[in-house]
Amino acid sequence: MTKHLTIVDHPLVQHKLTYMRDKDASTGKFRRLLREISLLLGYEALRDLPMTTTTVETPLQETEAPVLAGKKVALVSILRAGNGLLDGVLELVPSARVGFVGLYRDEETLQPVQYYFKVPKDLADRPVIVLDPMLATGNSSAAAVTLLKEAGARDIRFLCLLAAPEGVARMKEAHPDVPIITAALDERLNEKGYILPGLGDAGDRMFGTK
Ligand code: URA
Repeated sequence: MTKHLTIVDHPLVQHKLTYMRDKDASTGKFRRLLREISLLLGYEALRDLPMTTTTVETPLQETEAPVLAGKKVALVSILRAGNGLLDGVLELVPSARVGFVGLYRDEETLQPVQYYFKVPKDLADRPVIVLDPMLATGNSSAAAVTLLKEAGARDIRFLCLLAAPEGVARMKEAHPDVPIITAALDERLNEKGYILPGLGDAGDRMFGTK
C-alpha cells in the first residue's frame, strides 16, 4: 500500500521553503525558489513510475537498460498557482502531456465550480501528477481529483508545496488512493482558509499580484 502522505524532508527542500515563507522575499526570489523546489518535489513524486527495459548499444556492447514504460506522464496544473510548479516538473519530464483545471468557489454554496477543464487524452493509461502548491481546506483539490477520475485517470498523485492537516484529512477521506507529496505539513488553517504559518497567497506571491 502506497503511503498517503510523503513529506520531502530533504535539507535543500526545507532550506528553500524557509526562504519562500519570508514575507520580504521578492516575487523573483519566490518564483526562483518555487522552481527549484518543484524539481526536488517532482523527483520524489515520480519515484515509482512504471519501468521497462530497452536494448541499447553502448560503444562496447549491446545491453538491456531501464526506461520509463507506457504512455507519457500527464501533469495537471490547478489554475492558477499550479503553474508555479509546472515549469520545474516539466524540466524533469519534458515529454509529459499537460492539462489544466480551473475551479472557483461559489460564494453561496461555497462549493468549487469548474470553469476550465482541458486534459490530455488517454488519462486512464498515464500516471497523472496533480500540481497545486497549497493544500488548504482540500475542497478544490478533492474536486479536481474527482474531475480527473471522471475523465478516466486511475493512477493519480497530488504534488503540493505546503499542506494543512485539514486538507490532508479531506483528501484522505475523498481519495484515499491518491498519495500526497509535500515539502511540509503546517499547523492549521486560519478562519479565512489560509495555511498557518504558511507563506500567504501562493498565486499572488509567484505572480506579483495582490
Ligand atoms: N491558498 C494559498 O495560496 N495560501 C494559503 O495559505 C491557502 C490557500
